[in-house]
Formats: sequence, structure tokens, C-alpha cells
Amino acid sequence: MDDVQGGSNRSDRRYFPFPLGTVKSVEVRAGQQGYEVLIGSGLLAETGQLVRRDVDGDRCAVVTDANVAPLFGEMVCASLRTANFRPELIAIEPGEGSKSIAQAGALCEKLSAAGLDRSSFLVSLGGGVVGDLAGFVASIYLRGIPYVSIPTTLLAQVDSCIGGKTGVNSSAGKNLIGAFHHPALVVADTDTLQTLPERIWHEGFAEAIKHGIIRDAGLFDALATVDRDHPEAFVERNIAIKAALVTADEREHNDLRSLLNFGHTIGHTIEHAAGYGNMLHGEAISLGMVAAAQVSVRRAGLSLGEVTRIRAALQAHHLPVTLPSGFPREKIIAALPRDKKFENGRVRFVVAHAIGRASVSSEVTMEDLRAAVAAL
Ligand SMILES: NC(=O)c1ccc[n+]([C@@H]2O[C@H](COP(=O)([O-])OP(=O)(O)OC[C@H]3O[C@@H](n4cnc5c(N)ncnc54)[C@H](O)[C@@H]3O)[C@@H](O)[C@H]2O)c1
Ligand SMILES: [Zn+2]
Repeated sequence: MDDVQGGSNRSDRRYFPFPLGTVKSVEVRAGQQGYEVLIGSGLLAETGQLVRRDVDGDRCAVVTDANVAPLFGEMVCASLRTANFRPELIAIEPGEGSKSIAQAGALCEKLSAAGLDRSSFLVSLGGGVVGDLAGFVASIYLRGIPYVSIPTTLLAQVDSCIGGKTGVNSSAGKNLIGAFHHPALVVADTDTLQTLPERIWHEGFAEAIKHGIIRDAGLFDALATVDRDHPEAFVERNIAIKAALVTADEREHNDLRSLLNFGHTIGHTIEHAAGYGNMLHGEAISLGMVAAAQVSVRRAGLSLGEVTRIRAALQAHHLPVTLPSGFPREKIIAALPRDKKFENGRVRFVVAHAIGRASVSSEVTMEDLRAAVAAL
């Protein structure tokens, strides 16, 4: 992680259109390859030049949603054209409902119609829904073409834009159809966060709170002081945590990357049971983390004082810590065994020992999960 050098001084790269120190850069290593995450203000207008440094070819499709298209679509396409790319803007319907295999198929057809070939690439411009969907389409179209990720929600900037997990939901559950496909470059322009509705801004904190709980007590403490006008350092710190875990364990072969699933076993089933789009991902994960904290008290010695701090951090961002009344709790329990983390009926559950320290436990039982859901 460091500040990107300006001018043409970088020995390994071509022209970089920003002065020294104004743009943060985090490198994510994935297998043999690596990619760069650029974090800063004013990056979007330079998209074309930034992409040119990492991607060849000229034909591309910018996949976005109908909320983001009018905000940033033209700026990104104009910049791509300036750098001699030929972009096609494709806007999908906003929301979790678009993360479907039907939408992925429809996008593939649009890419064919637009004449994208093996030398073409995709740009995802939007939140986690657009990123997961467009990344997945990039992984299957013509058996895989590159993509550049331009995350425009806090959730996408602190979490979903890196790591290479792409995919769509199925009627059985969240993210059950997907592929690993890493972006060639991530451009996180923090200016885009200015237009986020309050609810979506706060949603992003769920994943940041998760990063604090599993890995970084200092980040957890710093949550209260995040400046919405200048979130660059905060975004960078989150990306660095996830990048380190992904680099150490790209495909969840040892337990490191799995730590990122804290709150997600129960959170995903809540999101699914609520009906896609009714509860935001971050909101469901907030509830999942409250339940995981409760399990952690029983199985990992998490103190009640720390549980209180976790709940307070979530509530400070208006994230839910109890289920809405009348929520179909039985659906949560019924859906749990379908989660990918259940292998041969065994649960591999992420527990926190303290804020800043977590591990994967095989001790957790269905009964523990039932009790935690009942207490929500
Ligand atoms: N792949 C991963 O590693 C990973 C990690 C975490 C979450 N996710 C996925 O991310 C998704 C949630 O992401 P999300 O909350 O960003 O959802 P989202 O993409 O639906 O964005 C939320 C809303 O904000 C709008 N929006 C986006 N950028 C905007 C901007 N700059 N200004 C105004 N409005 C804007 C969108 O149109 C949408 O209505 C879930 O599907 C979740 O499963 C994936
Ligand atoms: Zn998540």
C-alpha cells in the first residue's frame, strides 16, 4: 500500500495523470497475477487514461444501473473515448433482483449484439450488485474477458470491488451461482460517494465494522470519526485488510479468507428470507453479525462488553440489530444448511474472540445458531 507517484516517474508504468501523493494504491495479489486498487478523488474523469495503463483492446461495455448511469455514465464513457476506447453503456434495473442468472444471460446477449469479442473488456460502474453481476458476466462471456471495476457505493469500495468473487443469486440462496474472476484494475473514486442516499452510505459500514471485528481493533475505534467528505484513508484501510486476506488465501483453502464471512452465514439467510431487495445486504449482515457475536460469547469467549460495543457501532449507522417484528424466523433456520459454509452437515462458523481477533470454529452447532436467531 502506498501513494501513487505522479507524472511519468513510475518506472514500471506509463503516464499517471495525478500529482504525487494524491491517489492511494493497494496491490492485490491473486495467484500469479496482481491488480491495483486506486483510491482517490477525481479519478472518474481520468478513467480512460487509467484503464489504458492496464488494459489493451478498444471495444468495451460499461455495465451500470439506471440510478448510476445518469450520474456518472457519460463522464466515464467520455473519458474512455478520449483514450481511444469504444464504450457501449448498458444500464440494468437497480437492486438485488438484478443479480440473477436471467439478467446475466440477457447481458451476454447484449454484449454479442454490441459486437464485443475476445479482445474486448467490461467496465462495471456501480455498487456491489453491478460489480458482482458484471464480474460474473465477464467471467463467462466468450469463456472470460477482462473487466475493470469502478465501485460507486461505500460497500463496494470497502469490500466487494476486490477479491474476485463474482456471481448471482438463485432461488435457493445468495451467490450460489458464480465464479472467481479478478478485475484487471479497480478505480475507487471517493467523490462518487457524495450522491449516495443516507441508507446506502450507512449500509457500507456493516462490512467495515466486520473488518474491524475480524482483524483491526484500531479500525473499529476509528469508525466514529470517518469524514464523509474525505473517506479515502478509511477506504484504503479496509481494502488493505481484505487485500491481505485474499492475497494469503485466494480460494478459501485455509481459514484466512473465511474470516471475511463473519456474520454472513446467518446474514445471507436473513437476506434471502426477507426477499431480495427488501433488506439491503449490509443490513442483513448487521443482523448476522449480532447473531455471530452471540454465538461467539458462547463458543469463543467474546465479552458481553464487546458485544455491546459491536451493537452500538452498528446502531450508530442506523443498521438493524433486531429482526423486524413478524419476520419469518423459521425461514432463516430452514435455509441455513443450504449455505456454502455447510459441508457434509458441518458448520464452519467464524467466531470473534475479541474485537480485532477472529477464527473459524468447527464447534458451533445448529442449536447455537437457532438460539442466536431466536435472540435477534
Ligand atoms: N463480491 C463480494 O466480495 C461482495 C462483498 C460484499 C457484498 N457483495 C454484494 O454486494 C451487493 C450489495 O452492494 P451495494 O449495497 O453496493 O448494492 P447496489 O449495487 O444495489 O447499490 C445500492 C443502491 O445504490 C445505488 N447507487 C450506487 N452508487 C450510487 C451513487 N454513487 N450515488 C447514488 N446511488 C448509487 C444503486 O443504484 C442501488 O440502488 C450484494 O449483492 C452483496 O451480495 C459482494
Ligand atoms: Zn458481505
